[in-house]
Amino acid sequence: MPTTRTCSTSAASASAAASASSSSSSPYVRTHLLNQAPYTPIEPFDVLSAKLGREPKDIVKLDANENPYGPPPEVSEALSKLSFPEIYPDPECRRLRALLAEEAGVPPYNVLVGCGADELIDLLIRVVMEPGKDTLVDCPPTFGMYSFDAEVHGCGVHTLPRTPVDDDGTGLPSFAVDVDAVNALLDDASKNIKMVFLACPNNPDGAMLSDGDLLSVLAAARRNNAVVVLDEAYIEFAGIPTRAPWCLEHDNLCVLRTFSKRAGLAGMRVGYGIFPDNLAEFLWRCKQPYNVSVASETAAVAALSNPEYLEDVKQKLLSEKSRMYELLRDEPFASSLQPHSSAANFILCKVLSPMGGKAIKDQLMTEHGIMVRHYSTKLLDNYIRISVGTPQHTDRLLDGLRAVLSS
Ligand SMILES: Cc1ncc(COP(=O)(O)O)c(C=O)c1O
Repeated sequence: MPTTRTCSTSAASASAAASASSSSSSPYVRTHLLNQAPYTPIEPFDVLSAKLGREPKDIVKLDANENPYGPPPEVSEALSKLSFPEIYPDPECRRLRALLAEEAGVPPYNVLVGCGADELIDLLIRVVMEPGKDTLVDCPPTFGMYSFDAEVHGCGVHTLPRTPVDDDGTGLPSFAVDVDAVNALLDDASKNIKMVFLACPNNPDGAMLSDGDLLSVLAAARRNNAVVVLDEAYIEFAGIPTRAPWCLEHDNLCVLRTFSKRAGLAGMRVGYGIFPDNLAEFLWRCKQPYNVSVASETAAVAALSNPEYLEDVKQKLLSEKSRMYELLRDEPFASSLQPHSSAANFILCKVLSPMGGKAIKDQLMTEHGIMVRHYSTKLLDNYIRISVGTPQHTDRLLDGLRAVLSS
């Protein structure tokens, strides 16, 4: 069975690790991969629909930070007129890169498009890290692909947990990068740190990274020949400009972006990155030539042709996030869930109810057709993460929660 990633944080790799067989063996496979934990397979909509006995349209999917509004209508129109699907796609994605470069204010050469930002994380690690020697700094709780890809490529992962900081005065700590500890690691030559991955906003808590903190890590990385990857998958929701243009000033900074969230194109797999010259050159040499399909590039170009739609959808999601956050902070939910304030399109909640996050997640799914993400790790012990959907999704979620919590 193909294993497709659903996990958005290291918690999922941890749970996959638990289910991985420890007795795996094969004479053909690289030894470091024999105990590699797989990702938890996702259930496609039709499979989920059969399992839950509900029509796909009746399932409220708030577990993967997708954009429920989907792309602008121009996308299906363009896909219905797709030209030359029988010919390999443009290996340089020229039409799309020209638009992205203009938007980011950088030359097209510095923009690479990938099969999702995921592919670019993998490509960067392959280009920058020496297997068996180099180590990446991972600051969990965060997106799981950084450590997963490093492990697959036989590179080290130095885990530096974020530190709890009550920065919004709610009494609920958010997870802040321990910048001094990251810099100390970078300055310790014996650790062979070659890359630092930082998401802003971070998944799963939606925490931000300040300019000062980013500059500080960039400087420490620079004096130790290490690369900083700033993952801006959710930046459109954060109300600050992208740091993409910084890549022209900092030769060790890469910025990753995606169409999965902003443009409702998670299924088309289009991500991109902005890279400094000295890395772009080698990424261009090493990337798979036809990594972005004709359909995916066409869809992304069409999505960018309607900026009003993208802005409108963003505003809808932001106002729905505020509504959901305020409602969750009120009774009857406040005594059961404690929501984090978030700069992205999801809300992480600490579960206070004695029921526990796993039971809440399971009952929402089986009894109400509502999918949320549950975490049970050392750092995220008993949390759920809820993606922001439409107002109708929020209403269904709150009705479901009300029923589950009072059962
Ligand atoms: C922080 C972060 N980066 C990257 C991605 C993956 O983006 P893409 O869908 O473009 O591969 C995700 C997806 O959930 C994410 O949460």
